[in-house]
Amino acid sequence: MTSAVNGTTDSPPAVPADRGTCPFAPPPTYEQVHRTAGPISRVSLWDGSPCWLLTGHRQARFALGDRRFSADARLPGFPFLLPGRRELVLRTTPTFLRMDDPAHARQRRLLTGDFIIKRVEAMRPQIQQIVDQALDRMVAHGGPADLVREYALPVPSLVICLLLGVPYRDHEFFQEQSQALLSLSATAAEVEVAQQQLNSYLAELAGRKQREPDDSLLGRLVVRDDVTLEEAAALGVLLLIAGHETTANMTALGTLALLRNPQQAERLRSDPSLIKGAVEELLRYLTIVHLGVPRVALEDVEIDGTLIRAGDGVLCMVSTANRDEAVFTGAERLDVARDARHHLAFGFGIHQCLGQPLARAELQIALQTLLDRLPGLRLAVPFEEIRYRTDMAVYGVHELPVTW
Ligand code: HEM
Repeated sequence: MTSAVNGTTDSPPAVPADRGTCPFAPPPTYEQVHRTAGPISRVSLWDGSPCWLLTGHRQARFALGDRRFSADARLPGFPFLLPGRRELVLRTTPTFLRMDDPAHARQRRLLTGDFIIKRVEAMRPQIQQIVDQALDRMVAHGGPADLVREYALPVPSLVICLLLGVPYRDHEFFQEQSQALLSLSATAAEVEVAQQQLNSYLAELAGRKQREPDDSLLGRLVVRDDVTLEEAAALGVLLLIAGHETTANMTALGTLALLRNPQQAERLRSDPSLIKGAVEELLRYLTIVHLGVPRVALEDVEIDGTLIRAGDGVLCMVSTANRDEAVFTGAERLDVARDARHHLAFGFGIHQCLGQPLARAELQIALQTLLDRLPGLRLAVPFEEIRYRTDMAVYGVHELPVTW
């Protein structure tokens, strides 16, 4: 039973929760808690420890934008969704994703220049070429094809390799490691091995670039006096993982959402000017960072009359925030013409996604090109047979068999 006052649930739901029947919607438990207990509620993590769940748009945005909520996973109270991960974090040197300012700002500043809109806009012809070539290859192989393997994954993977200066020929190695890193069923020991393999790979590459500098992002990082080789390698790992898993899953799941909403796909085909807004709407509607964005309170903070105490863990549930009717009317509908710009799919505040201009450009080009070039695109298996990434930290589909 759940009472209708913020923060009071008699039997707190477990996090993470199961998905319901609609694979595009957040777990029904969260939506139910949001409706009955309000946008701030208490939930239980895997070990029974309590955590605040912020399901409303305003509340999640508030916490993400307020420096009294820390992203430092080494602090006591920081919420972990799986066993062994806290100990693992304590053994690992963090990157700015899990740091607070000023350390966060220092590392982020090392990279911002490569992700500003102007730089990304200049990459559009190269991205278009990568997209066209991947599609040419898929079409040449003939349908049915797995869109994930042949299109959604190679495109962002090739782009981030190009930007970072990582040889794409090694993609099987780093994609395998990143699967282990993001798998919810991997043990902490397996995650640690994958992490170490990626770190050594990037450290070796960074060492080579130090001896033979090039103009790639990593090549420019390793020649700086204020960046150690280890730091450059760790940033390389972060960008490599964040740079392709997320966009790949948005491309594949976004394609599936459009195939299930053929009128929306048709609108995009007939009016290409809608693509920018459509990508924002798909980001909102699908919210692939589905486990929430974790924070811990540094001091007592009151949100909407609920007192969150220093040391309390908080999960900003951006998936339900992006379906908050107070901000998005008819939120359960995919509407490519909607103004979805205020979604929280890229987070909010100082940690708001660094790669968002790149992700946007890749998604706009990949989805528009796919729709234009393959007007007969359709699923090659019944919808019910699609396997979803409920077992991974980044949501999406494991495969997407299509034909055209
Ligand atoms: C941060 C989502 C693509 C690099 C974040 C955060 C979210 C997110 C929710 C905030 C995490 C937090 O506050 O704790 C996404 C989604 C993407 C995407 C949905 C694609 C659709 C990318 C790409 C890159 C990237 C393409 C790099 C090439 C990063 C980095 C951070 C970040 C470095 C940490 C920023 C910081 O802590 O200041 N992303 N991301 N992301 N993302 Fe992305």
